Amino acid sequence: MDKIVSLAKRRGFIFPGSEIYGGFANSWDYGPLGVELKNNIKNEWWKMFVHQRTDVVGVDTSLIMNPKVWEASGHLKEFSDPLTECKECHHRFRAEGETKQIFCPSCGSKNLTEATQFNLMFKTFIGPAEDKANIAYFRPETAQGQFVDFKNILDSSHRKLPFGIAQMGKAFRNEITPGNYIFRTREFEQMEIEYFIPAPKKDKEWEEYFDMWLDEMKRWLKHLGINSKHLHFHDIPDGERAHYSKRTVDIEYDYPFGQKELYGLAYRTDFDLKNHMTKSGQDLQYTDPETNEKYLPHVIEPTWGVDRSLLVAMLDAYHEEDAPTAKEGEKEARVVMKFPKWLAPVKVAVLPLSKKEELSKVAKKLYKNLAEDFICEYDETQSIGKRYRRQDEIGTPYCVTVDFESLEDKAVTVRDRDTMKQDRIKIEELADYLKENLKN
Ligand code: GAP
Repeated sequence: MDKIVSLAKRRGFIFPGSEIYGGFANSWDYGPLGVELKNNIKNEWWKMFVHQRTDVVGVDTSLIMNPKVWEASGHLKEFSDPLTECKECHHRFRAEGETKQIFCPSCGSKNLTEATQFNLMFKTFIGPAEDKANIAYFRPETAQGQFVDFKNILDSSHRKLPFGIAQMGKAFRNEITPGNYIFRTREFEQMEIEYFIPAPKKDKEWEEYFDMWLDEMKRWLKHLGINSKHLHFHDIPDGERAHYSKRTVDIEYDYPFGQKELYGLAYRTDFDLKNHMTKSGQDLQYTDPETNEKYLPHVIEPTWGVDRSLLVAMLDAYHEEDAPTAKEGEKEARVVMKFPKWLAPVKVAVLPLSKKEELSKVAKKLYKNLAEDFICEYDETQSIGKRYRRQDEIGTPYCVTVDFESLEDKAVTVRDRDTMKQDRIKIEELADYLKENLKN
């Protein structure tokens, strides 16, 4: 974990938040490479689950919603964690473990107060008056936007069941114990699909949809480059699920700090639509176009954390290995981020062998042309070996070297990140070569 945190800071993936003011506990900022990595995750997810499916549409709803939403969804009443205080050092923390009888992580004392429920929603005030009537909340999940807009989507797009509504964006939770880097923070991003299905007429009629989404989540994880040996599927027992769920499978990952949740899949029944219908007084029922039967659809919800996706993608991509140097038979250690090519924050690095003007002129023109199609980097500092190592460390799939021969043969050397093999490619064929090779 330390290696990832240090690489991420050194190379501009992730920085501690507000660092010049001594930091701000458990807040993290995404730097130039981090934001590319995060955007790649979000864009690929949207492509895979919205654009490439005929049964899912997207929305982007408000972060601060009418507070009645949170009354209806049950979050005001139920969305809480057990909070304990140490009677010795007064440290407050989340009571964990089966018996909730634990010791203080700060001083080790077992002299603790009885756990009380602490609501995790972030409160704010709308407008200048800080009184009760103006209280509002930052959303703790994106999902309620999909439920609240369900009728608008039905009316505007005439969808037939089953269909899904997808959304990605920020969520906020006043976590009692944030930590483990970007694993648990108070501000994070989610990618969620509310998949509306016909109300089951028989027991278990929802299960085929649940299984379909579990398979889709596995497909995504493979695409993200995650080794299936690092994953576990945990059926959450009765009494431990979120208040809205009749079945939940947590997908867990072997983090360096233990096996913990990565994503979740829940059967939310008609819990949310039913409560919104009661609270808002609006008819949120679906009318079956064939039978004219009216009913509330049920919901299967696959949910993905963006930040946890990025964390596990970095953990699985990190490799240390021996690499040959320019000297025959000599080897040196290299760190290489073996991201799937679609995920790599930089796709191509253009490296002129020398800073001489005749070379940099050709290399800069090449960079400009390639930058139309790919995210590129231009680097003319230090030895070529060091530049290769720098690109390996951020996971750039291809390095393109422009040398003096390039001026004669109008070709460049293309080096593959994983095999370190080099191909001589004509400049005019380079864009097609890269497009072809970056596909997989
Ligand atoms: N709509 C359902 C829902 O919000 P959740 O399991 O509470 O379910 C979904 O959250 C996902 O959001 C988690 O699987 C995780 O990936 C991510 N997540 C939740 N809390 C988080 C936090 N404090 N920091 C970072 N990611 C978090």
